[in-house]
Amino acid sequence: MKESFLVKGGARLQGSVKVDGAKNSVLKLMAAALLAEGTTTLSNCPEILDVPLMQKVLEGLGCEVELEGPVVRITVPQTIKSEADFDAVRQFRASVCVLGPLTARCGRAVVALPGGDAIGTRPLDMHQTGLEKLGASTRIQHGAVVAEVDQLVGANISLDFPSVGATENILTASVMAQGTTVLDNAAREPEIIDLCNMLNSMGAQVEGAGTSTITITGVEKLHPTEHEVIGDRIVAGTWAYAAAMTRGDITVGGISPTHLHLALEKLKVAGAEVETFANGFRVQMNQRPLAVDYQTLPFPGFPTDLQPMAIGIASIAEGMSVITENVFESRFRFVDEMARLGADATVDGHHVVIRGIEELSSTEVWSSDIRAGAGLVLAALVADDETRVHDVYHIDRGYPYFVENLQKLGADIRRVTHK
Ligand code: UD1
Repeated sequence: MKESFLVKGGARLQGSVKVDGAKNSVLKLMAAALLAEGTTTLSNCPEILDVPLMQKVLEGLGCEVELEGPVVRITVPQTIKSEADFDAVRQFRASVCVLGPLTARCGRAVVALPGGDAIGTRPLDMHQTGLEKLGASTRIQHGAVVAEVDQLVGANISLDFPSVGATENILTASVMAQGTTVLDNAAREPEIIDLCNMLNSMGAQVEGAGTSTITITGVEKLHPTEHEVIGDRIVAGTWAYAAAMTRGDITVGGISPTHLHLALEKLKVAGAEVETFANGFRVQMNQRPLAVDYQTLPFPGFPTDLQPMAIGIASIAEGMSVITENVFESRFRFVDEMARLGADATVDGHHVVIRGIEELSSTEVWSSDIRAGAGLVLAALVADDETRVHDVYHIDRGYPYFVENLQKLGADIRRVTHK
């Protein structure tokens, strides 16, 4: 049986909502737990499909994993397996983050080339080069990336691009390497800071998280820890754009607004009122949004994961917007679905030019990845009648209680099952 969402447009979303822990943090933190024997406890974990998928990957490596609402407890044995289960890994991209911890703990890692969202080719060359600089040999063999090393040794590494995943694998591989690693052009995303904070609480010596240069002084052993996952800035940003698109008023809690600075600034330019608090923000919109240009870039730039929301708001804005995708090359597949809803959008290389129209026109649309799926739901909220959003399992991978939260905010949306 398949599931889709039926969304009736027209409601003005109002109220408050709290975001849970970040998908893009919790999965990496679960993998980092592998670095220490014993029980690591993570709190504020989101109840999304990718968490039990990661549970399967860790169980396949010999760990015991308990999920209890927002708490995840991972008990890591003295000896773990070095080969991650093929089927579990292939189901989601983030599973590649076990590569660094396995290489550090076992001196060997075999991780199937991950699947995940259809948003681009997503090679692993920078992950491999990073591990090689630390002394490992790596190769792609039988559909898996294989890393082997006798002893990881600290090195100076400069990334070609501040890749989030490569930064994470280099961090988790180098924390127990011999000597010091200096990682230049490192990713600066809040999720990287979260990972470094957890590693330091396990006894690692990592400095410079959140800047382009991270210095890791290798230690012999790490110990288990307790750690609270940071809030999901992409889910929070989705609520912010939902407020602005529906000319609503939403207060979002559980997130540091500094993690969304540019995304909220763009909403101000579009005509929204934005108020920020220590642990949240409020977005109110009383007019048709104005057209705004967007460029996706690594943090602190505008997040590529909110690009569908940028396209969504631009499609109903007054004027013409240009949206430029600089991170993932295939992310404009979403535009074809927006065109079904009547959006006036023209793709030219990695730019999309959008002429805003007053109202989108309801129809059936298909989610191609987590964020595109959420973006289609927002678009459906401002369409003239009922829209069916298909393939919503993508959305369930990243948005806990999405339908329930939308209903609470006044949206007319329901989940339906069909053949
Ligand atoms: C992570 C996030 C994803 C987000 C992205 C960028 C997770 C699970 N996913 O993905 O939601 O959209 O960061 O903020 O955390 N690249 C290479 N070679 C490599 C590695 C990456 O060419 O070895 C390229 C990618 O194809 C892409 C770009 O670098 O074009 C950025 O990728 P990266 O920052 O690594 O993203 P992910 O960690 O995969």
